Amino acid sequence: MIPEELQEKIAGKMDATSHPREKAVDVMYLLQSHYGYMSEEAVHEAARILDMTPVEIDELATFYDFIYRQPVGKYVIHVCDGVVCWMQHYCSVFSYLFRKLRVEVGETTPDGLFTVLPTACIGDCHNAPSMLINGEFYGKLTPEKIDAILDSLVGDNCECIPNR
Ligand code: FES
Repeated sequence: MIPEELQEKIAGKMDATSHPREKAVDVMYLLQSHYGYMSEEAVHEAARILDMTPVEIDELATFYDFIYRQPVGKYVIHVCDGVVCWMQHYCSVFSYLFRKLRVEVGETTPDGLFTVLPTACIGDCHNAPSMLINGEFYGKLTPEKIDAILDSLVGDNCECIPNR
């Protein structure tokens, strides 16, 4: 059961449209913010609210990079894999993150802090290679810059990020 405050937010979205399906992504985001990801419970809740089937919700949820069908870490690192970032050593950003965090694509660090995901162009091409972490853009990435960004997110004394 979702909290009353969230129910009101969702009701506000639904009241603003005569075509409930238009609000499917908004509703999924709101539910995801509560559940942490689009869990089975969230999918069924969305289906009920939007008068859609769980399969239709699942199809939508798996289409969008920013809707998560599996649990994710506190910080979700969306590494851009668009063409401009490819040309600007995107692969080295990915491989550096994998090495540093000791995860593979889509995995979450054991401490639950970071999940690394590839994402289509995030619209920050002029700063390529780029990534997005919980809605924040980080561009012109280098190993040193990535170190500083991750350190700032976990604090200097954290032992969860091994040194290079
Ligand atoms: S291609 Fe990476 S931000 Fe556009």
